[in-house]
Amino acid sequence: METSIQKIKKPDLATLEANPLDSAGLYPNPEKLNPKEQIDLETLGKMVGHSIVSVKQFDRKLIVELSKFAALLEASDIASCHPLDGKLIITAFFEPSTRTRTSFESAVLRLDGKIISIADGQTTGMAKGESLADIGEMFNAYGDAVVMRHTETDSVQQLMETLRLPLINAGNGSGEHPTQALADWYAILKWNPKLAGKMHPEDKIHLGILGTPGSMRAVKSFLLMSLIFEDNLKEISIVSEMADPLGEELAKELSERDININITNDINDVLADLDVIYMNSIAFLGDSYKSLDSRFKLHKDSKLKKKAVVLHPLARLDELSPSLDETNHNLYFTQAHGAVFIRQALLISVLNRFDHLPENFLQNK
Ligand code: CP
Repeated sequence: METSIQKIKKPDLATLEANPLDSAGLYPNPEKLNPKEQIDLETLGKMVGHSIVSVKQFDRKLIVELSKFAALLEASDIASCHPLDGKLIITAFFEPSTRTRTSFESAVLRLDGKIISIADGQTTGMAKGESLADIGEMFNAYGDAVVMRHTETDSVQQLMETLRLPLINAGNGSGEHPTQALADWYAILKWNPKLAGKMHPEDKIHLGILGTPGSMRAVKSFLLMSLIFEDNLKEISIVSEMADPLGEELAKELSERDININITNDINDVLADLDVIYMNSIAFLGDSYKSLDSRFKLHKDSKLKKKAVVLHPLARLDELSPSLDETNHNLYFTQAHGAVFIRQALLISVLNRFDHLPENFLQNK
């Protein structure tokens, strides 16, 4: 297939529409992330061939370089380079999903890769009692990488017993959701790129979490990734119904950090001071979904700081009123839409398809 480097539309960041999707809410221009600066290929190259199972695999430089790469992809039309041509990704979802599966599939298909899509684990041998280890052995022969979601926290470990392809963890029980955290921080860095560097003490932000990180994988991964930017955080406030919202692992992690952590069950203690609010109410507890923390509701009349932004991994229940959608507090639609580009950046890196990008694309000379 011809790679038409000459026909590539180089990103014209200066004229990019502020909101190409006409979504409600805030839609920060990817140009704010300065993707014209050289992107560090050596940093991205560290992901080649690797599985992505936990936020703990990331450092600040990698998150920032991936976000700059995603911003370039968001502002460009590189489909005619077919960056994932010849690569086949298996999306194996043993638990329901709207955003993660379809945004991964959109990311792959828009780069001309191919997909084997398992949208319901019950259509696999799992319905007959087949083990994940046996399923992993089969995947080795059928694709080039696997994106898996599962209800069980140890599912990643089970699949990796036999899987020799890169695995991207798309949510494992109450474990982690690392690519959601990347999508969260991609949105935050577009909103306030100063967070990528060292902020003036007066600019540091107060981060609020309405939810229970110890029981909600997206919130847990978000909190872990936020700690990577801890020097730019004035304080983290966690508003939860639970007596112990962190659990043992996170409590230990936080105790080793030099950051102010405030835990409360009264949203009114902190709401008016928060700059960034991350909320969620769906937790996978035991063997089913439960709604936790849904009494902490936000709506257009909530007493938020004028410039505060709200993130939510979605799906939402009553805690996040659609009345907030039309306001500039809504960063959650950008968060969900941008997931396609950060996942494209991740896949190109893991699958080592940098040589399929337009000449000087990452250098952007
Ligand atoms: N954010 C997220 O994981 O959404 P889905 O459950 O729809 O994939």
